[in-house]
Amino acid sequence: MIDFKDKVVWITGASSGIGEALAFEFAKLGARLILSARREDELKRVADLTKLPELDLMILPFDLSDTKNASGLTAQIINKFGRIDILVNNGGYSQRSEAMETSIDIDRQLMEVNYFSYVSLTKAVLPYMKRQKGGQLIIISSIAGKFGFFLRTSYSAAKHALHGFFDSLRLETEKYNIKTLIVCPGKIKTNVSNNAVTSSGEKHNEMDPSHENALSAEECAKQIITGIRKSKEEIYIGGKEILMVHIRRFFPKLFAKLVRKQNPY
Ligand SMILES: NC(=O)c1ccc[n+]([C@@H]2O[C@H](COP(=O)([O-])OP(=O)(O)OC[C@H]3O[C@@H](n4cnc5c(N)ncnc54)[C@H](OP(=O)(O)O)[C@@H]3O)[C@@H](O)[C@H]2O)c1
Repeated sequence: MIDFKDKVVWITGASSGIGEALAFEFAKLGARLILSARREDELKRVADLTKLPELDLMILPFDLSDTKNASGLTAQIINKFGRIDILVNNGGYSQRSEAMETSIDIDRQLMEVNYFSYVSLTKAVLPYMKRQKGGQLIIISSIAGKFGFFLRTSYSAAKHALHGFFDSLRLETEKYNIKTLIVCPGKIKTNVSNNAVTSSGEKHNEMDPSHENALSAEECAKQIITGIRKSKEEIYIGGKEILMVHIRRFFPKLFAKLVRKQNPY
């Protein structure tokens, strides 16, 4: 049984949804937390709710669209905690726009936040994990990282890219006892659809019906912890939409028919 007591856990996207729920789960298990996202006030709210003492908490706000200073951010964590045991690359946003109506700038920004920031933070943290002789990377992908879907071209591309990078990285870094878990949520009840970008660059600002009655972020966080405990490499979390991953794998022709009938929202 993995003991999370005193483990130093850096969570991006900790101001809401899955990241917030993970902060509470890790806090309950006795971990020490670094909480990141852009909105400092929301990070403070989450930090207060964890009830962790200041000694075990750090709020580190920054924008994932600019991670040039990833090594500086990592150094700040090392200065306070001396190590980083778990990096949860979770922060990001979805898309609700057709490719033909979406500017390349919006496509690039989706890749920057949902893919390159994950690579950048990981590269900054890895030397410390190597020195410590171990660590755990958690990569929050999506079922959109397993198959393409309406209105999500670049979001899906970014999530697919995560699999290519982190499946390869896992092979290179297991020799340092660094584990990599890729998490593919289906529909989880968070603000993800509200925060999705549209073709105008504005937020979608709607809770999609498929998210309204979806699995809770708390349950999602619990299943992620179970995935770590079981040393899984890839897990799927959600409701019946998860079946599509398996249908695509074993019955590709059926998948091709079914996916066209899905409601994009
Ligand atoms: N909910 C689902 O159904 C679902 C399904 C598949 C995958 N996922 C993935 O799960 C992860 C978490 O999403 P969620 O569902 O919890 O949605 P959420 O409630 O919208 O949370 C997104 C988090 O990412 C942060 N974030 C967004 N853009 C950022 C930026 N430019 N810089 C820094 N932080 C940024 C947000 O914080 P600030 O706004 O404060 O910066 C927030 O904490 C995402 O990677 C998402 O793609 C979610």
